[in-house]
Amino acid sequence: MSRSSRIPGFYKRSLKDRSHVVGEWANLTADEINVLNGLSGLNAEHAEHMIENAIGVYALPLGIATNFLVNGKDYLIPMVVEEPSVVAAVSNAARLFRAGGGFITSSDEPVMIGQIQVLDVKDVNAAADTVLAHKTELMAEADKVGGSIVRHGGGARDIQVRTIPESSVGPMLIVHLLYDTRDAMGANAINTAVEHLAPQVESLTSGRVNLRILSNLTDQRKARAEGMIPAQELASDSLSGEEAVRSIVEAGVFAEVDPYRATTHNKGIMNGIDAIVIATGNDWRAIESGAHAYAARNGQYTSLSKWWQDSDGNLRGSIELPLALGTVGGATKVHPAAGLALKILGTQSARELSEIAASVGLAQNLAAIKALATEGIQRGHMRMHARQLAVAAGASGDLVGRVVQMMVKEGNIRLERAKTLVLELTSGSVYNPAAGAD
Ligand code: MEV
Repeated sequence: MSRSSRIPGFYKRSLKDRSHVVGEWANLTADEINVLNGLSGLNAEHAEHMIENAIGVYALPLGIATNFLVNGKDYLIPMVVEEPSVVAAVSNAARLFRAGGGFITSSDEPVMIGQIQVLDVKDVNAAADTVLAHKTELMAEADKVGGSIVRHGGGARDIQVRTIPESSVGPMLIVHLLYDTRDAMGANAINTAVEHLAPQVESLTSGRVNLRILSNLTDQRKARAEGMIPAQELASDSLSGEEAVRSIVEAGVFAEVDPYRATTHNKGIMNGIDAIVIATGNDWRAIESGAHAYAARNGQYTSLSKWWQDSDGNLRGSIELPLALGTVGGATKVHPAAGLALKILGTQSARELSEIAASVGLAQNLAAIKALATEGIQRGHMRMHARQLAVAAGASGDLVGRVVQMMVKEGNIRLERAKTLVLELTSGSVYNPAAGAD
């Protein structure tokens, strides 16, 4: 069945209608839709089995980004995020990329790195050579504890060594186990493997092993996305397409050369990536730390994306970052909504998920720098902010839009004003329900 994630007016529909559309998209049952709507799903009992000292659950909004076309396939993107504008902005940006043919992506094999820290070694270089000389045995040993990951074709891929000749605790040999964890994020598998290898590494090096743990700098497991936006798609009343392309490229280069800007630029990228990472039950702290370490890999913190004008005058962007995401194990299976997020995405492949996430990051980045390099972001943000204030002031239903409209028109977007308007409008003096929602 060919279907399109381009759903014009999706945002204008009711929440119930939207979940119905997504339900049809992903063949969800009524019970599954109830999970998405927050009527069932993660409860205190699940929480009790997930963490210690649980006292309840903490909900966040789940939205759907539309318009994504990745490698010719349409996706609806589940996003869990508390920040207004993120979902709307990424959907708009995905529509622009769609006009240029959508995203083209690639990713590495799902190889994680496990580290073994070896101390008290007389000669770190000689010890490193010995470890390398026993690579095959060490890899075979690591595979013995690989369980279902090895049965699914994963397991040890390499042993590498790094030496730190001097440190405040003496010379250090660091042994890396490279381990393919297939569709799992793989933290448990890699930690089990390095713990298992430690005694053998000690006897080979005559040293003392201290830490045995994965690295979140998963630079063997990167995902990439690239896309084009025709210049005319960026034209507005105030800027030609060509001017918009130039301003966006200038914004991108700003982040390449200045760490202060790169940090905010990458934060915008992670707005999108974290939202899909959380929705699918993955570890967003792992993804965050890996992304920022990768952004600083050459000694200066820089942008995770690149923007340039191509020879036809169109805008092109690309992104590359480590994305160790899983579709099996961990919260992906325990959290009822996480499984449904994967069902909406229509994938059980960790690599496909990482490539979608990279595309979402690139789209989110475009949305931010396009707004910043053209009209600025405050106009749209203030409208969403006004909605939150209206709700906080007690408005519901049609009244929210009416309060927002008045505050935006007055240029007075404050809680006090929202409260006054709610009072005035509900007392009948100004409220006109026929005006409809915003
Ligand atoms: C806000 O959450 C994210 C932005 O600051 C990102 C950026 O500046 O590129 C808009």
